[in-house]
Amino acid sequence: MNNVIECIVTRRSVREFTEQAISYDDMMQMMEAALFAPSGMNLQTWHFSGVTNKALIKSLAAAIGREIRRADYDFYQPAALIIPSNIPSNPLGKDDNACAIENIMIAAHALGIGSVWINQLQGISFVPEIRSILSEMQVPTENEVYGIVALGYAKQKNIPAPERKGQYVIL
Ligand SMILES: Cc1cc2nc3c(=O)[nH]c(=O)nc-3n(C[C@H](O)[C@H](O)[C@H](O)COP(=O)(O)O)c2cc1C
Repeated sequence: MNNVIECIVTRRSVREFTEQAISYDDMMQMMEAALFAPSGMNLQTWHFSGVTNKALIKSLAAAIGREIRRADYDFYQPAALIIPSNIPSNPLGKDDNACAIENIMIAAHALGIGSVWINQLQGISFVPEIRSILSEMQVPTENEVYGIVALGYAKQKNIPAPERKGQYVIL
């Protein structure tokens, strides 16, 4: 199988991470992969905050937990987060960010780093308590956050793939 396609099909969502930190160089490579995602009309109105400060990550998780009433909410205790955001006035911003997230997750897997999409910030990124932590993470004030990525080294190797149920046809 082609190496890139193998990387795509062997990526799994990782929800248990070791304590190992992610290097600055690896964070940069994942950010670069994000920047090279396609974007509608090539507007590139996105912004990416990479966060390796565990105290900041915990404070964001706690604020989200209070908002969604899940006291134990912790993003699966990752080593890092990447928070894509976009201007709400770009009607394709959410789609663009989704493309960037997939690039980040594939790049992470290529670097031996596990990742999982985190959806709990959707719709609550302007809640004041949450926004003040996002501002500490240098997410631009006007930007909305949709999905984000939790990253770290997987505790379990070779996580089995959930069954693929999608259908396709080739004509
Ligand atoms: C839009 C979207 C939202 C998701 N939200 C979450 C989430 O909040 N928490 C989580 O653990 N996984 C989340 N996932 C990951 C999916 O559960 C996962 O991709 C799916 O179970 C297939 O597993 P795989 O990624 O290992 O192939 C999300 C995935 C997508 C595409």
